[in-house]
Amino acid sequence: MASLFLRIDFLTLLFFLFFMCSHSLRFGVSGRKAEDNHFISDPSRVTQLSWSPRAFLYKGFLSEKECDHLISLAKGKLERSMVADRRSGNAILNDARTSSGYFFRKRQDAVIRRIELRIATWTFLPEENGEGIHVLHYERGQKYETHPDYFVDKFNQENGGNRMATVLMYLSNVRKGGETVFPYAEAANTQPKDETYSECARNGFAVKPKKGDALLFFSYHINATANPRSVHRSCPVIEGEKWAATRWIRLRSFENQRSNKIQQ
Ligand SMILES: *[C@@H]1O[C@H](CO)[C@@H](O)[C@H](O)[C@H]1NC(C)=O
Repeated sequence: MASLFLRIDFLTLLFFLFFMCSHSLRFGVSGRKAEDNHFISDPSRVTQLSWSPRAFLYKGFLSEKECDHLISLAKGKLERSMVADRRSGNAILNDARTSSGYFFRKRQDAVIRRIELRIATWTFLPEENGEGIHVLHYERGQKYETHPDYFVDKFNQENGGNRMATVLMYLSNVRKGGETVFPYAEAANTQPKDETYSECARNGFAVKPKKGDALLFFSYHINATANPRSVHRSCPVIEGEKWAATRWIRLRSFENQRSNKIQQ
């Protein structure tokens, strides 16, 4: 009789432990329900492009459907892209940047949420440090001349610190032009290039936009200082159009943004 009770107690205990475990896994330490993030980063799809700046390309990071979803949400809401004034940090128009863009809110919908979590998983950088995903559209002839993603003004660093890394997701294929080029990358002049690259992409390490691919590069060194070699440009689109989505990642949490309008 005693051993039967012991057994029941043991089973109850097991059940209780199991319940506690599944409960704490689902709700996490913070008590918030953990979101589904079934993404497992696949290293065989990632290529290291450069070590200074640190830059990596993930083939097929987004599905075609996800790319189309982001484009269709942003279409019709695009506004001419601005740059941050070097002194005041104010958003100003500049001929160096002729694309148009649109900022999503963080966690705007389930698809965006999934992508944000996937980025955190791949980059090992906290999800809370990310800005809202920014969609960019470049029509024929549109470009963004060589620039850093980190801010040089103080104002834009007040919230979350500076931008330390960027994940640039290509949402469309571009028939010609539209490459992302790092003119001062260490590997700049070792990359073989054929005639499929545009003239603009000749000098520097160039990445061709390909629908679904994601480029990750770091604007900061590991010792938390800005890396000027991370400057890059978006070559003019020669044939077709270019859609891209950017996730800028800050040094610290970017949850309490007062203004999400500043872009660079
Ligand atoms: C940070 O690291 C970079 C790259 O290794 C180096 O060039 C730079 O001098 C370092 N800066 C400081 C303040 O340690």
